[in-house]
Amino acid sequence: MEQLYRVAILGATGAVGTELLQLLEARNFPVQALKLLASERSAGQHLSFKGEAIQVEAVSESAFQNIDLVLASAGGHTAKLWAPKAVAAGAVVIDNSSAFRMDPSVPLVVPEVNPDAVMTHQGIIANPNCTTILMSVAIWPLHQVQPIRRIVAATYQSASGAGAKAMAEVQAQAQAILNGEVPPTEAFPYPLAFNLFAHNSPLNAQGYCQEEMKMVLETRKIFGAPELRVTATCIRVPVLRAHSEALNLEFDQPFDVAQARMLLAEASGVKLVEDWQANYFPMPMEASGQDEVLVGRIRQDLSHPCGLELWLSGDQIRKGAALNAVQIAELLIARRQLGAAPASLSGLC
Ligand code: A2P
Repeated sequence: MEQLYRVAILGATGAVGTELLQLLEARNFPVQALKLLASERSAGQHLSFKGEAIQVEAVSESAFQNIDLVLASAGGHTAKLWAPKAVAAGAVVIDNSSAFRMDPSVPLVVPEVNPDAVMTHQGIIANPNCTTILMSVAIWPLHQVQPIRRIVAATYQSASGAGAKAMAEVQAQAQAILNGEVPPTEAFPYPLAFNLFAHNSPLNAQGYCQEEMKMVLETRKIFGAPELRVTATCIRVPVLRAHSEALNLEFDQPFDVAQARMLLAEASGVKLVEDWQANYFPMPMEASGQDEVLVGRIRQDLSHPCGLELWLSGDQIRKGAALNAVQIAELLIARRQLGAAPASLSGLC
C-alpha cells in the first residue's frame, strides 16, 4: 500500500505557495493531510486542493505537530524562526528561502544535478536560488562531459522572483503608464513596467548584489566544485514569471557545439528550443507554466576557442522554486528519507 504523508505549506498564499499547492495536486503527491500556513494577515482565507476548500492558518508553535513534510516559501526570516521548530516536531523541511542554503550541514539540492545530497539531510533541505537552479539544470550535462572552468552569466529576471505583490505591481504599473499616470512603486524601488534595473538585492563591497553572489556560491556548492569561477550580472526585467539567462561557459578544451546540442536535447529537465531560420529560441512567455528549462542559441564563443554561448528561459515559480521543492520531496520518498529518522539520529538508541 502506498504510504501517505502529512504535509504543510508555509507561505501557502504566496506566488510559490500557491504553485506548490497546484503541483501537489497535479503530480498526485501522496498527501494524507494538508495544512496551509501563512501570516496572521491570511488566516481564515480558503484555498482549494483536490476540490476541497482548505482554511489557511496563521503559523504557530503547535502548527507542525503531526506533520511529516513542510514545504516552506515564506522568506528567510520566517524560515529561520519556524524551520527549526518544525524539525524539532519531527518534520522534514524543504525551504525555498536563502536562510540555510550555505549552511554546510544543509544539503542544497537540484534533483537533476546532486540527488544524492538529500541522503545527508538533518531535517532541513534548502531549495536553491531560482536563477541558480535554472542555470544548473542547463549546464550540468555539459559539466559532466568536460568540467566547466568559468561561467559568465547575465540574467533577465521576472517580477515573480519578488513575490505575488511584485507581479501585481508590474501589471498595475503598466496600466498606470498607459493611462498617463504615475506608476505605483512599493514592491520595487523603481517602475519595472517598460523599464529594467539592476537586481534589487543588497550590494557587497565589491559591487556584486546578493542575487549575483547566490549564483556564484550556490552553483559551487551544488556542483561540489569550490574552484568553479562564476561571475554574474543580474537584471530585473518587465516579465511576469519566467527568468532568462545568457551564459558564457569556458572549458579547458574546445567543446563541440553539435555534441553540446545533443547532450542538452537528451538531458533531464531540459528542452532544446532552436530554430535558427525562424530566429526562434527560448522565450519567457513560452517557458511560463513549463516544467523544463528551455535552452537554445548554443554556439561557439567567437572570442575564445574553449568557450560556448547559450541562452535559456525557465519558469521561475515552477522549476526555479516550487517544482524543484516538490521534486526534492519526491526524491526523499523514493530514497525512503521521509517519515524515517534523520541521518544524524538514525542508529541512536
Ligand atoms: P501572507 O499572505 O499572510 O503575507 P510571496 O513570496 O508571494 O510574497 O509570498 C510570501 C508568503 O509568505 C505568503 O504566503 C505570506 O503570507 C507568507 N509570509 C510572509 N511573512 C510571514 C510570516 N511572518 N509568517 C508566516 N507567513 C509569512
